[in-house]
Amino acid sequence: MPFEVVPTGAAVGAEISGLDVRALDDATFSALRQAWLEHKVLLFRGQDLTDDDLVTFAGRFGALDLAPASATDDVGAQEKSRPEVWIISNVVEEGKPIGALGSDEAEWHTDMSYVDEPPMASVLYSLEIPPAGGDTSFANMELALAELPADLRARIEGRTANHDSSYTSVGELRKGAAPVTDVTRAPGARHPVIRTHPETGVPSLYLGRRRNGWIVDMDVADNEALLDALWAHCADPRFAWTHQWRTGDLLIWDNRSLNHRRDAFDPASRRVMHRCQIKGDVPR
Ligand code: OGA
Ligand code: MN
Repeated sequence: MPFEVVPTGAAVGAEISGLDVRALDDATFSALRQAWLEHKVLLFRGQDLTDDDLVTFAGRFGALDLAPASATDDVGAQEKSRPEVWIISNVVEEGKPIGALGSDEAEWHTDMSYVDEPPMASVLYSLEIPPAGGDTSFANMELALAELPADLRARIEGRTANHDSSYTSVGELRKGAAPVTDVTRAPGARHPVIRTHPETGVPSLYLGRRRNGWIVDMDVADNEALLDALWAHCADPRFAWTHQWRTGDLLIWDNRSLNHRRDAFDPASRRVMHRCQIKGDVPR
């Protein structure tokens, strides 16, 4: 194969070296897809991509979803880019943010789990990176499930959870959403708490995000205590790998078996990322 797979050494992730993702023949792509299923997040350094290149690369993995609704998706550069490209940025131009998520910490989550068919993968490309902060971490939820204490596992076996759609991972209320005061009535989508990877058959914890999560039919106080215990377990650094960005980095990750989060960074610095999301199916 015309590339090398260099595992991060952590619980997840590998760097692919020696590859320009604009030029992938079918055999190379299929080897790459296998490496992705194995390592769950792949890093390609030093890429030089237009939005069309990004959409073409992401589209090799499957049909693309449109960008998600966010507090800021109706402004600035989003209108100038392709509808499949979601801009993540703190940059403000003419008083308007050019993208979503600002510069605050983004809490642990998996992308768009609040819809019935969440994207199977996200592809994130860096155009401008601040001198410090804004690292993105990934956590292996197959491993987190495998190492979940038996008493916790017994309490989620066969259960379904509601994934609230009201807030972004940085805690902004999405456009048109109302604040949630009762988790049993939060809008969103319901998915099994333990899902099985449709391609590899491996089970994983599928929690979405902590905020307003509800294990369906569970008493609210019990729900809060159980979710706190599950999230404390999932946040253990032994399940995670942290990526420090450089300009031209491209990541593709598996939303079915990973959580991710982003560190805050200095709001006075600039961070500009372009993302695509690849359609998935109903979690089972
Ligand atoms: C995302 C996301 C992390 C980041 O792209 O889904 O959560 O590093 N962003 O900005
Ligand atoms: Mn995300």
